[in-house]
Amino acid sequence: MRLIKVCLSETSCQINLPRWIALDDFLHSGQRVMIVGPSGSGKTVLATTLLGKLSLHLGEPIIYLVDPKGIDFRFCENCKNYYPVDDAVQGIEDFFQLFEARLRNQAPCTQHAILFTDEISSLILSLPKKESEELKNKMARLLNLSRALNISIITAMQRPSAELFANGARDNYNIRFLMGNMAVNKESVAMIASEYKDMIEPCPVGLGYLITDGGIKKIRSVIPKDKEKLHRVICEAVNRKAPGGAKQ
Ligand SMILES: Nc1ncnc2c1ncn2[C@@H]1O[C@H](COP(=O)(O)OP(=O)(O)OP(=O)(O)O)[C@@H](O)[C@H]1O
Ligand SMILES: [Mg+2]
Repeated sequence: MRLIKVCLSETSCQINLPRWIALDDFLHSGQRVMIVGPSGSGKTVLATTLLGKLSLHLGEPIIYLVDPKGIDFRFCENCKNYYPVDDAVQGIEDFFQLFEARLRNQAPCTQHAILFTDEISSLILSLPKKESEELKNKMARLLNLSRALNISIITAMQRPSAELFANGARDNYNIRFLMGNMAVNKESVAMIASEYKDMIEPCPVGLGYLITDGGIKKIRSVIPKDKEKLHRVICEAVNRKAPGGAKQ
């Protein structure tokens, strides 16, 4: 099928035969994607491309976009499910309600629902202890129980520290992007890519690694040419209302 073309294989670029890497598993079931890398490594650019492809090819998905920094996704500012800065926690809470309604069979699972959170590490660390624990527990429950409910979770962060994830929920991320100079952060690499730690080298901005059940690939993310279209399709998904529930 190869519809959800997210990035290029860096090996193929090296021999001047660029080949897309597709994440078509999204077409069949909920996925958990972690995008990790130091500041400026290209996490947000890659996440925006992924959200654009999902918006185009999943058949009217609903995206909740949580943007604690409130800069990179301002193009969504008039959309119903856009949660910048001080609204970020509310965004995860609202998505959690959607998930709980699906879990309890009170809402249909027909539409693919996606929770994207940029900079989740900064968000969790910025909260008072009680609130941060509540948020971590909600994220853990979502990560552990939502896959069969047509729900995907996409999370970008600088460091995937264990303390950010309650109940070992980090292990649920079946798709892991390690962007840029991750190799220098040996602790992070050991936490999320221990089996490949000797293969991972420092990469420039926009380059990195993709780890899935199928193994590891070196990748190159590409800045989409048609930014206007990218933003338009994402806005449509972020503005979509989920059926079957007041708060949904
Ligand atoms: N694939 C790419 N090709 C070329 N340049 C890129 C690519 N990805 C990112 N960049 C450049 O790097 C800059 C930083 O990218 P981005 O905002 O995605 O990084 P980030 O990891 O999200 O950073 P932060 O942690 O500060 O949010 C972009 O503004 C862009 O200029
Ligand atoms: Mg960013």
